Amino acid sequence: MRRREFLSLAAASLATPALNISRAWAAEPGAPLLIPEVMDIAPGAGNALDAIRGTRDFIAGAASETWGYSQEYLGPLLRFRRGRIANISVTNRLDEPITAHWHGMHVPGYLDGGPQLAFGPGETWAPELPIDHPAATLFYHSHIHGRTGPQVYRGLAGMIIIDDPGIKDPLPHDYGVNDFPLIVQDRRFDRSGRMIYGLGMMDRMHGFRGDQILVNGVVRPKLTVPAGLVRLRILNASNARVYDFRFTDGRQFHQVASDGGLLDRPLAMASLQLDGAERAEIVVDFSDRSPVSLVSRDIGMGGMMNGGMMGDGGGSMMMGDRGMMGDRGRMGDRGMMMGMGGNSGTPLEIMSFDVGEAAPAGPTRLPTSLPSDAPALGDPVRRRDFTLNMHTRGMMRGGMMGGDGQMMGINGEPYVMDRIDETIRAGETELWRINTDMMMRHTFHVHGTSFRVVRQNGRPVDSARIGWKDVVRVQGPTEILLRFDKLASEETPFMYHCHILEHEDVGMMGQFTVT
Ligand code: C2O
Ligand code: CU
Ligand code: CU
Repeated sequence: MRRREFLSLAAASLATPALNISRAWAAEPGAPLLIPEVMDIAPGAGNALDAIRGTRDFIAGAASETWGYSQEYLGPLLRFRRGRIANISVTNRLDEPITAHWHGMHVPGYLDGGPQLAFGPGETWAPELPIDHPAATLFYHSHIHGRTGPQVYRGLAGMIIIDDPGIKDPLPHDYGVNDFPLIVQDRRFDRSGRMIYGLGMMDRMHGFRGDQILVNGVVRPKLTVPAGLVRLRILNASNARVYDFRFTDGRQFHQVASDGGLLDRPLAMASLQLDGAERAEIVVDFSDRSPVSLVSRDIGMGGMMNGGMMGDGGGSMMMGDRGMMGDRGRMGDRGMMMGMGGNSGTPLEIMSFDVGEAAPAGPTRLPTSLPSDAPALGDPVRRRDFTLNMHTRGMMRGGMMGGDGQMMGINGEPYVMDRIDETIRAGETELWRINTDMMMRHTFHVHGTSFRVVRQNGRPVDSARIGWKDVVRVQGPTEILLRFDKLASEETPFMYHCHILEHEDVGMMGQFTVT
């Protein structure tokens, strides 16, 4: 895409009413964090989820229309145990088809909840899931072709925890006491304070970005944690926004798990970047008892572009804070600038922490190594290449950004539900090389397995530090090593796709069988 097109897109977005956010309401921060209720998925019947409508006052006094799995917004925390068979039934009480996809879970295609497993209003889907996955924090969400973005935005999403009775968890694991789920999402509200999802041109191109941050469905909440070690399971359940989490006092914390489960050992860091659908478990030491906030650098469009003119960081020439679009003062509306600008100077507040009494129990120090599950993958026997395309033939037909057609794609083709793009043999290690065109930043998610990242942008990656992944940022050539053990047929294939939901919805997705 050329520079001129970007300028005209940016100019057009200034006129997009949805971006013209009024501050008539004030989003009051500091409400207590909601801790999702646990649904312990035991064998046998009784584990029923209902996809329903609800309302939620995200902003005091303004009821937003929401969807949820058995609750008004989002769903309960599903807790599965490795080695068990889990029965769960999901009933659709909405008026359009949905699915329930167990993102990251190693189950065969017919249980995966992908687009082929849609069930309509009044219908129930009742899979029996053999849980064969290491201890991990996963994600569940609807995965309807073309409508995943709006459905997840409305609330059809939740967190999964897999427990492994075969290991002794040396980390804080007392749910709601020293082990907390944090489902982080960005949302946009209209001038009356009601949640809205409308795609302006910039949203269509870069994915939807809201200007209010919700954790577990609460705007910038507050959580009282015990003095001592606390485990936070962070899921970026935003449609597109990338976070770069850090604490306001710059304190160090340790990452202990990524998408697919525990790392080999705790990894010290002061900031953590998560793209859409990525998970990280971190352990934070609150024993100094000082209150602190979790914030994120506002990674705007500048950070979504790669290299040269559109370089990462705040000062990108076209879209940066003080780039050709003019300085923020002149633009006036800060919300709008945050929606389309580069990295703004002000960090976004995610949530705040108060520290209470010391935890009654739980570990007081971090172990030096973790019981990670690391089967060796061996050398690849095959290589496949994938390019994530901003333009496909469909897009050319449909015009630049208009219409609801399939505009983006992979390897030149938008997603087609009855075309199998790759056929894969179970048990064979493969090397996949993923790249992006137009210098755009995307993610790449693969169903049915976890993978190792081995090279990024020409440099070897220490995959042990990154751990087992099912989503990876792609901002240049990215190589992953993977092997499939679960099967997927032509009727219910596995997906690979960009997890920017607005890209997935317009065709940046492909599908494959495993035989
Ligand atoms: Cu989070 Cu194909 O899914
Ligand atoms: Cu998935
Ligand atoms: Cu993308």
